[in-house]
This record gives sequence, structure tokens and C-alpha cells, in this order.
Amino acid sequence: MTYERNNGYIDGNTTHARATVERVATGSSAYPCAYAIIAPMKALLIGSGGREHALAWKLSRSPLLDRLVIAPGNPGTACYGQNTPIPPHDLTALVDLARREAVGLVVVGPENPLAAGLADRFQEAGIPVFGPTSAAARIESSKSFAKTLMNEANVPTAETHTFPDHIAATEFARRSGKAWVVKADGLALGKGVVVADDLSATLEAIARVGATYKGQHILLEERLYGRELSVLALCDGQRLLPLPPARDHKRLYDGDAGPNTGGVGAVAPVENVTPDLLDDIVSHCMQPVVDVLADRGSPFCGALYAGLMLTEQGPKVLEFNARFGDPETQVVLPLLEGDLLAAMLACAEGRLQSDLLTIRQGCAACVVLTAAGYPEQPRKGDPITGLETLKADDLLIFHAGTAWEDNRLVTAGGRVLGVTGLGSNLRAALDRTYAAISQIAFAGMHYRMDIGA
Ligand code: AMP
Ligand code: GLY
Repeated sequence: MTYERNNGYIDGNTTHARATVERVATGSSAYPCAYAIIAPMKALLIGSGGREHALAWKLSRSPLLDRLVIAPGNPGTACYGQNTPIPPHDLTALVDLARREAVGLVVVGPENPLAAGLADRFQEAGIPVFGPTSAAARIESSKSFAKTLMNEANVPTAETHTFPDHIAATEFARRSGKAWVVKADGLALGKGVVVADDLSATLEAIARVGATYKGQHILLEERLYGRELSVLALCDGQRLLPLPPARDHKRLYDGDAGPNTGGVGAVAPVENVTPDLLDDIVSHCMQPVVDVLADRGSPFCGALYAGLMLTEQGPKVLEFNARFGDPETQVVLPLLEGDLLAAMLACAEGRLQSDLLTIRQGCAACVVLTAAGYPEQPRKGDPITGLETLKADDLLIFHAGTAWEDNRLVTAGGRVLGVTGLGSNLRAALDRTYAAISQIAFAGMHYRMDIGA
């Protein structure tokens, strides 16, 4: 284990992949020999958050990986490959980079480039990509499209009414005389949804959402009650391989108070989510939309994320995302055994098999350390201390909003670090996480004390 200038956490695995491939080639490895016949490859990972650091960490453990290139990456991903300063919205530069590096697989992290057609561009260039085309990614980028799919596929979800503008939505809400969940149709970084408690809050929310997301349709949705659950699954256009169920904490403060955020903590697996319940979710909530997308000629390849409410009538879908969740990925990936790169390549090539990844025993808990001013106006430039001493097999520290400045690691975004502890049960995982956090400091650092509670 070493600590290097470019990272907060390193597990000594930077050179692991190549060495393992060589061992496979000489036939002296414990890895399945099927891997030996696939040549080691370069991979390109797109994104710069905690999710991408977790993906880089897991991909770097693949015997198939020769070299990882990350665009643009962050100080954490730099431990596992070459960060390249190309932003996710520069589709042409990303395709050029993949060509130049002759990568064997591209993995797209964030939703915006997927909605903009980045996966289509790689497909057109003949480069295997793990991530849906823009037509399939509409399952996230248009909530009304997702509702249409769900209704067509008979997926349990909240009753919803869609309106072209705030005037029509207001008229409908007034006539109904009751409260609705108000949603903007398009991508809004989790900020386009208001769960209103009464009619006047509904009308206020319609006005606000209408003004903020001008030109977008507005959805009024029946409010569902229960506990929320995130189920992520790899998909090859036809088949799904579900990952351990996770629970995300979206509000900034303890007790689910304060503003909504992208997610400030997560745990996996989730208590009381039995294998039967997970099967039920996959077969009744997820597989049907995958089938409908394939029937429509836009098969979904990538990570399909179902945000669910466990209601008294059973699980119902709140939303779909067309990518890995963040911070869910930071707890889900550490619980996987097997070669994620091989599984993603199998998705891109339409040959996913359920035994490519298995789930290990134990629990993972991630607490996100946020910067002063998050989520409105996160402050940047506060020096971060304490990471040097934090190295252990049951601890992963994922960078999200960090940067190197004058040889110091400083805050550079709202969600600064994700601290993931592992343990044989949730309590042990949480204790590991909070013990590590007590060693880390930066001015304005904030985190929830009740993750997993
Ligand atoms: P969405 O982006 O649609 O998942 O909404 C963001 C958050 O709003 C969800 O994680 C829920 O906490 C909440 N939410 C969305 N839709 C509903 C609903 N129909 N009933 C209750 N809460 C909802
Ligand atoms: N953690 C919620 C999301 O990734 O959308």
C-alpha cells in the first residue's frame, strides 16, 4: 500500500491488472482460463465524480485491463489510469481520443453525454460502448417518455398526468383540489421534483418548476408512500444482471431534513430486500421496459437504475436512470466479485451472462463529505487533510469534488469525498466509515450522522 501525490486512497493495485493478465497467459492464475483468450485492452472511462472513481477502482482490478484512460477524471481516478482533460460534453474530442488510444471499451458515467448521443457516436465509430444510445437513454432524460414505456409495459408506477406547460398543469391541479408531486420532464440533476403536501404547495411548485425549466412538459404525479430503494442492473439490450440493492439518502441533513441533493450517503445491501423481492422487481419493474425498448428498436445497453418506492401494494417505479447511481455505485461495486470490465464488454457485445459477477457477503456504507455551501453554491479551495493515514482493506475513499492546487489536495465541488466502509453487517460497515471520517478534515466539511439508520 502506498500513498501517492495524486490520490487519497490507493490499494496497491495499479499494476495488478497487467501482472494478472501475464499470469493468466502463463496459465498459473486462479482466474478462469476463458479470460486468457481475450487480449488485454485499453478502456476509456468518462466522467469525474465519486461514481467514476469507484468504477476506475473496480475496472483496474480486471485481468482484461491493459490501461485505463479517464476523461476528465479526478485526483482519485488518477491512481488507476491516465486522466485526460476532455469534458463529457465534447463528444467529437472523446471519439477522437478513443480512436487514438484504440480502446476496446468505453464506459460512460454521467447522464448528460448519454442523452446527447455519446454512445451513438461510439457505436457509429465501431467502438464498443457500455452506455445507452440517446434513444434508450430517454428513459431517464424524459420522464414522460419513461411513463409511456412503463404504461406500455404494465410496470407498476404512480398515476401521472403530463402537461405542455404550467398553465395547463395549474388548471388541472386546481380542478383536482388536491396535492401532487410536480416534476419537470427533462434532466434536472435531481432538482426538478417537488413533493408537495397540499394544493397551495402544488400550485407554487408548478409555478417554480415552470419558470425554472421553461419549455419542458410538466408532470403531476400521485404521491406514493413507503421506503425507497435503488436497484441497479447491467443490461445488454435484452438481459439484466441485478447488482445488490442499495438505499440512497438524498436530503442534506439528518432526519431527512433540508434540501434535496444528488445523494449524500448510501448503503447496500438493503435490509429486508429478500432475493424474492429483488426477483419480483427485476421481472415486473425492469425487464418489461427492457423488452419494450428492444421491441421499439432502441435496445438498452448499460446500467439501468430503477428508483423504487416499496408501497403497501408492492414495489412501484418512481423513476429510471440510464446510468450508475451516485453514491450508490460507491457501495454496490465493493460488494461485487468478478470482472466488471468483462461483464461490461459482454453487455456491449450483447452476450451478458448472469454468472459473470457474483455478490459477496457483507455490507457497505458510504457517507459523502460535502463542502460548505452545498448544494446551492459549494465553496472551493479548502485544503483537505487526513487521507494519508487512511489505508485499509475494509475502507475505500472515493474522490468526487477534489483538485490538486499548489501541491495540496483541496475541495473543488459540492460532494467532495465518499467514504465507504465495509463490514460483515451494516453496523460494522457504518462504524468503519464514521471512524475513518473522524480522521478527515477540511473547512466547512459537512456530513450526515444517520446514514443507514
Ligand atoms: P425522481 O427524480 O422522479 O426519482 O424524484 C426524486 C425524488 O422525489 C424521489 O427519490 C422521491 O424521494 C421523490 N418522489 C418522486 N416521485 C414521487 C412520488 N410519486 N411519490 C413520492 N415521492 C416521490
Ligand atoms: N443517487 C441518485 C442518482 O444517482 O440519481
